Amino acid sequence: MQTITDKFGRPLRDLRISVTDRCNFRCTYCMPKEIFGKDYPFLPKDALLSFEEIERLTKIFAALGVKKVRLTGGEPLLRRNLPDLIQKISSISGIEDIGLTTNASLLERMAQDLKNAGLQRVNVSLDALNNDVFQAINDSGVSVQKVLRGIEKAKEIGLKVKVNMVVKKGMNEHEILPMANYFKEKDITLRFIEFMDVGQTNGWDFSKVVTKKELYEKLTSQFALEAVEPAYVGEVAKRYRYKGTNTEVGFITSVSESFCSTCNRARIAADGKLYTCLFAGSGFDFRELLRSSANDNDIEEQICNIWNKREDRYSDERTEETGKNKDKIEMSYIGG
Ligand code: GTP
Ligand code: 5AD
Ligand code: SF4
Ligand code: SF4
Repeated sequence: MQTITDKFGRPLRDLRISVTDRCNFRCTYCMPKEIFGKDYPFLPKDALLSFEEIERLTKIFAALGVKKVRLTGGEPLLRRNLPDLIQKISSISGIEDIGLTTNASLLERMAQDLKNAGLQRVNVSLDALNNDVFQAINDSGVSVQKVLRGIEKAKEIGLKVKVNMVVKKGMNEHEILPMANYFKEKDITLRFIEFMDVGQTNGWDFSKVVTKKELYEKLTSQFALEAVEPAYVGEVAKRYRYKGTNTEVGFITSVSESFCSTCNRARIAADGKLYTCLFAGSGFDFRELLRSSANDNDIEEQICNIWNKREDRYSDERTEETGKNKDKIEMSYIGG
């Protein structure tokens, strides 16, 4: 196996694969209904990478040092027969960890098939425990209870579960402590995510960000926390433990404490474009290459070329206030 590095010496270890640009939620900060309405031009089926194409590409990435794969969307559980893809990826040599990021609305029904196919972990997005607040955010009528049942089921059958909560001012700050209490009792890791300026349509503005400092102060007004070392290089969450327990809580601080210096992630969007940053403006079309007469070596060479030239550090630049007014792709397309 080779190890490839980018312009800042960062290796390629982590591959996030978006399997669909569609979602059954319309979270106001991600896919607002006004933009992602009935007429929105989602990708047609033949524009999506097939499972065979994803498998072929992942094998090549694994040969270049990728150890961790995360399936995302849109909502990945909307992709038909997803367990078949998980089975294919989990049998690729070199892939040690496979996870899924989901809104969990279909998880109760699908958890067992996902686990049987080789899935190890799920990260569930849930922004509130209060049903009115949650439904105002997801704008699609799905209830908190449905998501909680998905989480329970996943845990019951032995999947490792974490919960992601995007916190945005005026949207759900009142839910911070109820969420912390609930998931502490359940012994499930909850991670608070600073609202990020992804895409062009989410109405981001710094005044709507609740920073890690504010979140930490709120939490420590009620709980004693102690820091935990990162589980792996490039982990995005700052980890803590509730004192006297083994239950963790984390913060994803893309805005207030950026973490680009250890970023070892590549992202494949649902149409096969490769992006070297969550905030990239354009990507390289691997679908075209996969559907051409190119062989695996040609594809490998292309990945190496792209990674060797990589110099993305958008969140660091944002902090330095040089990253404004950039063209960026939408979160639901690139998968977060
Ligand atoms: P683990 O493998 O469990 O550590 O998952 P993860 O935190 O890497 O992935 P997840 O899909 O749960 O993402 C949590 C949040 O982190 C989401 O809001 C992502 O958009 C954000 N995130 C993940 N990777 C990056 C990154 O490389 N840069 C930035 N800025 N945000 C990221
Ligand atoms: N800022 C931070 N996190 C976001 N997510 C979606 N949009 C944003 C944003 N603007 C989260 C989702 C999910 C993860 C993949 O990214 O809630 O948990
Ligand atoms: Fe909400 Fe995730 Fe769907 Fe975006 S992709 S609308 S954050 S559930
Ligand atoms: Fe990586 Fe880009 Fe996120 Fe920085 S902003 S951590 S370079 S994906």
